[in-house]
Amino acid sequence: MNYAITPTAECHLPGLYRALDVVARELRFLALTAAPPWEESLAYHRNILGKNFPNFVALCDEKVVGWCDVAPAFAQSRAHVGVIGIGLLPEARHKGLGTSLMQAAMAKAWARGLTRLELTVRADNLNAIKLYEKLGFEHEGVQRRGSFVQGEYYDVCCMGLLRSEDP
Ligand SMILES: CC(C)(COP(=O)(O)OP(=O)(O)OC[C@H]1O[C@@H](n2cnc3c(N)ncnc32)[C@H](O)[C@@H]1OP(=O)(O)O)[C@@H](O)C(=O)NCCC(=O)NCCS
Repeated sequence: MNYAITPTAECHLPGLYRALDVVARELRFLALTAAPPWEESLAYHRNILGKNFPNFVALCDEKVVGWCDVAPAFAQSRAHVGVIGIGLLPEARHKGLGTSLMQAAMAKAWARGLTRLELTVRADNLNAIKLYEKLGFEHEGVQRRGSFVQGEYYDVCCMGLLRSEDP
């Protein structure tokens, strides 16, 4: 298998959309339970790309098997903040691709001038929480019953990372 991490280009967007839909439909990991309408997804990614925010895909022999994007936070006072989203198809997990995607997104975010990254993660998503902790993200609070899927409530953890000061 030939894996690669690369900046997202327009040609990757249909594959990214399919991957997002698969991961969302697992109902265990994302706030979405299915991909949003294609036009909405296109506008979301074009906004990120147009603002030169981080957006990377993981490819396996040219097929999109995962993504990591950093969306601009809403409102003027949050222009320094990026909101991370990440996911990999089931067969692409536990190979280090999540770490590589996050590292690429973090490097681009700091180079782009952002000084804070934040994310939310379901409290029972221990793999993802382990990954974020390994990369320095800190727990900042819990949205109690922040998620409701198939008749069950789940707590959602808020995590954040500040850009370290230059030496
Ligand atoms: C979360 C996710 C992106 C992690 O990516 P990954 O490629 O599987 O993770 P990596 O192989 O890079 O491992 C990263 C770390 O996670 C932890 N980890 C990975 N697999 C693990 C497992 N089975 N059990 C416990 N910890 C695990 C380890 O701490 C690992 O660190 P290490 O490299 O020092 O061993 C991926 O599993 C995924 O897409 N999950 C479904 C979607 C999702 O949860 N998205 C995030 C929503 S907030």
